[in-house]
Amino acid sequence: MNIREITEDVFYVGVNDRTTDRFENLWPLPYGVSYNSYIVKGSEKIALIDTVEIGTIRDYIRAIESQIGDAQIDYLVINHMEPDHSGGIPSILEHYPMAKLVGNRQTISMVKGYYHIEDDRFIEVGDGAELNLGNKNLKFYLTPMVHWPETMMTYVEEDCILFTGDALGTFGALNGGVIDTEMNTDWYWDEMYRYYSNIVGKYGRFVQKALAKVSGLDIKYVCSTHGPIWHENIGKALDIYNRLSQYESEPGVTIIYGSMYGNTAEVAEEIGRQLAARGVKNIKIHNASKSNMSYMISDAFRYEGLIVGSPTYSMQIFPPVEQFLIAMSTREIKNKVFATFSSFTWASAASGKMKEYAEKMKLDIVDSLDMKQSATQFTFEDAARLAENVVAVLTKR
Ligand SMILES: Cc1cc2nc3c(=O)[nH]c(=O)nc-3n(C[C@H](O)[C@H](O)[C@H](O)COP(=O)(O)O)c2cc1C
Ligand SMILES: [Fe+2]
Ligand SMILES: [Fe+2]
Repeated sequence: MNIREITEDVFYVGVNDRTTDRFENLWPLPYGVSYNSYIVKGSEKIALIDTVEIGTIRDYIRAIESQIGDAQIDYLVINHMEPDHSGGIPSILEHYPMAKLVGNRQTISMVKGYYHIEDDRFIEVGDGAELNLGNKNLKFYLTPMVHWPETMMTYVEEDCILFTGDALGTFGALNGGVIDTEMNTDWYWDEMYRYYSNIVGKYGRFVQKALAKVSGLDIKYVCSTHGPIWHENIGKALDIYNRLSQYESEPGVTIIYGSMYGNTAEVAEEIGRQLAARGVKNIKIHNASKSNMSYMISDAFRYEGLIVGSPTYSMQIFPPVEQFLIAMSTREIKNKVFATFSSFTWASAASGKMKEYAEKMKLDIVDSLDMKQSATQFTFEDAARLAENVVAVLTKR
């Protein structure tokens, strides 16, 4: 069995990256990441769909040659031009001197800007354009801002395959198998939440537009640029992307706090206990100074409730907590049941500053508490009331 064969004459030629610590130099990769690329071999022409990150070229060329030997590549289709997929373009053009680059107007201008490639190597395609490979046909759908302005998807009707770019992708390298039917996919789903919320999160409405655009197609294989090929799990992957891109969340509460000397932390723990006492089962508490931003963003996207706590720090929000709030407002987070807690010693400021973020994010603050110096019986009563109010709104929704 050729584990790289998806359907007849369509092959996986992507590579795994298990050495990069952080994707975009930001987001941790505990299980690595794959850069997916595919060969579509028609009776007349051979097309390559996307390339890989520049550090993995050697494995990449070997993967291509393992599938097509010394045959030539006629077309390199660029669905997404971000360097994690376009880094291989110069090597491919050199290795396959007859290959033409296929992309839309924006792609071509970006590729020129990055790689300084001559005009005669490009073929420009627009929305709905087709490219014939003999017994297979490629059709292009422009899907801007999933996740850059030039992104598009490519459909092969003969095989019911949609090449989706970053959409429906996930962190996590491939461990042997490439199609979901060949592996246990359990651990990829958390990585999908993290991938979506960290990377694509800001572009929810564009994801919705893209999903609507391809919804009429008969799709049996979803081939994205990262992670497994979805075949039996297309519905599940679509459902996660569909919900996250509408900022729909699951039952549960994320608590993000900062604390220098443990007083604000004590309130965070008490709020957690008070929520649990009221039946909330999914509670994730993160110390913003220790937890990685990637996981805090992922949990905040995932769960309905979001409670943020901060000490006052030189009349500001404690910096790691503010970083988190910036990440939330950048991603235009919506639909959260939001509450805040804060502390100060001589002049309260964190509370008011968090209110400004709430206004920016257009989130109502269900309840808030502001503690002077350290917790008293009144602070615990406030924490219980805050939990009660959050749970009341959660159950009403
Ligand atoms: C560097 C620094 C700056 C601070 N700035 C303020 C301030 O501007 N206003 C204030 O009321 N308290 C200020 N504080 C006191 C903290 O807000 C107080 O220690 C904190 O709220 C207690 O919570 P914690 O134990 O969770 O850190 C400051 C503390 C430090 C260490
Ligand atoms: Fe991307
Ligand atoms: Fe990507």
